[in-house]
Amino acid sequence: MSVARVLSPDAKGIKEAAEIIRAEGLVAFPTETVYGLGANALSALAVAKIFAAKGRPQFDPVIVHVADPQDAEKLWLEVPKLARRLIEKFWPGPLTLVLPKREVVPDIVTAGLPTVAVRMPSHPVAVELIRAAGVPIAAPSANRFGRLSPTHHEAVLEQLGEAIDAVIAAGPTPVGIESTVVSLAEDPPRVLRPGGTPIEALREHIPNLRVEPIVGPSASPGTLPRHYRPATPLFLLAPGQPRGGEPFERGRCGFLAFQRPWEGFAQVEVLSERGDLVEAAARFFAALRKLDRANLLAIVAEPVPEVGLGVAIMDRLRRASSGLAHLDETRVWITR
Ligand code: TXA
Ligand code: MG
Repeated sequence: MSVARVLSPDAKGIKEAAEIIRAEGLVAFPTETVYGLGANALSALAVAKIFAAKGRPQFDPVIVHVADPQDAEKLWLEVPKLARRLIEKFWPGPLTLVLPKREVVPDIVTAGLPTVAVRMPSHPVAVELIRAAGVPIAAPSANRFGRLSPTHHEAVLEQLGEAIDAVIAAGPTPVGIESTVVSLAEDPPRVLRPGGTPIEALREHIPNLRVEPIVGPSASPGTLPRHYRPATPLFLLAPGQPRGGEPFERGRCGFLAFQRPWEGFAQVEVLSERGDLVEAAARFFAALRKLDRANLLAIVAEPVPEVGLGVAIMDRLRRASSGLAHLDETRVWITR
């Protein structure tokens, strides 16, 4: 395939993008969370192209995006009361709901599962694109398999520029971290992936919500322990003194800080000077990407508080990391 067309996020660009979707092509588009790699969700052929472009080793279930809650009802067998309440409260927005699917949803969308994940994004360009296409749009994050999720169209072009038909260039995405995925197909409901909708807010409506991760082969890909990886090895800063491990000079490593920069590192990215976890989530993938491009030996990330969107950030950091780091005055000690 040739290089992706870069479309403007206006009526003309959206119309062109919608035509590509209808013709079973691939268009990367902005959502409020991250850029999605979109295809006609009702066409198995179009969805198969998503997997080829991403280089996913196997078919994984993808999220179907709708522009209206009523369109979700056409994809699910039935819509329980709890789903209606959550939709009313959290849509449009970063909450994906999993429920038993109808026949119209091709098996490749759900990787053969009897359930389908659906969400209504709040980004106006995403909503207009889905409306213009006239079909629901299946879209995983627009990154190559296992890599960082793109929060800017430049990041999409870098990873997938030669594998897709077009990208709608709308700049940075406001939330910056993927949607929270909740399965309502289980009783009690379960969080399959923490994300842009805080667990605390969901609990107000689902008091018995389960959050323990499912590990092992039955887990969904967002719950694979290794995921969201930068190319540079990333280590999560642990409390305590260095004990064993390999020493590196700080001057050859990068640091991903929550609030305050740390001394001595070759490059530091600060997620939120005012300690705001929403701002930190919005900057997270872009900051990691910057560090990843800086030719460093390793990246050390500081943990963030595990409340609100901090739960989703820590989830991504744990999956992205290769081990633990400890610091002394001039060095970084890392253990794999
Ligand atoms: O914010 C987001 O969710 C972004 C934007 C583009 O909407 N999308 C995204 O898609 O992150 P993806 O494919 O990278 O992650 C989808 C997650 C995966 O963890 C997948 O396993 C889970 O949703 N998922 C999808 N369908 C499922 C199903 N039927 N049952 C269980 N998990 C499912
Ligand atoms: Mg993803």
